[in-house]
Amino acid sequence: MTQDELKALVGRAAVDYVVPGSVVGVGTGSTVNCFIDALSQIKDRIRGAVSSSVKSTERLQALGIRVFDANEVESLPVYIDGADEIDHGGNMIKGGGAALTREKIVADMAERFICIADESKLVDVLGRFPLPVEVIPMARELVARRLRALGGEPKLRAGVTTDNGNLILDVSGLHISNPAAMEAEITQWPGVVTVGIFARNRARVCLLGTAQGVRTLEF
Ligand code: 5RP
Repeated sequence: MTQDELKALVGRAAVDYVVPGSVVGVGTGSTVNCFIDALSQIKDRIRGAVSSSVKSTERLQALGIRVFDANEVESLPVYIDGADEIDHGGNMIKGGGAALTREKIVADMAERFICIADESKLVDVLGRFPLPVEVIPMARELVARRLRALGGEPKLRAGVTTDNGNLILDVSGLHISNPAAMEAEITQWPGVVTVGIFARNRARVCLLGTAQGVRTLEF
């Protein structure tokens, strides 16, 4: 199976985790696009969605799914999103699509994070994928210096402004053996909006697309 077929497989499988009558938290990316397409088949059975990006909002609305403002919603049983990497504890690197801040907000609103990913995303230790960090433009160099002091090599993502008007630094060379500690450390630096480590909001379930079918990991 191709990577696109694996993404479609897990996108369809995630529909089983949607709670009837609820609002669904929806992430961002090519795997989530497959989920949104599958969700449109059962749109009459949900109230709508809270979205983590302008791109996902546009896709949801184009398929006739109501998108709620996050501030209007009190209860979100599940948040369904992809990942750039996921380890065997459900910790993730996210933000390859630059949507990490809104993704972390919607993940935090939800009771359970269901990750959908093809098997290439499963790693022993996070860090091979460059870690995205969303920064306020004024703090770009301050944060870059601190990331270098941690042993990383930050690179400004060229031509990208996030949905929140900020910049992304992609940090290579990090070996993230303690995701929760590194997330807590980087998050507190002035000028950092969001770091793309999702340990505090880690996945509770991962639907992994493999050549043998969907493998379900629970954490
Ligand atoms: C966007 C993300 C995505 O979930 C991540 O980049 C995975 O994307 P894809 O499903 O296209 O591989 O974090 O900010």
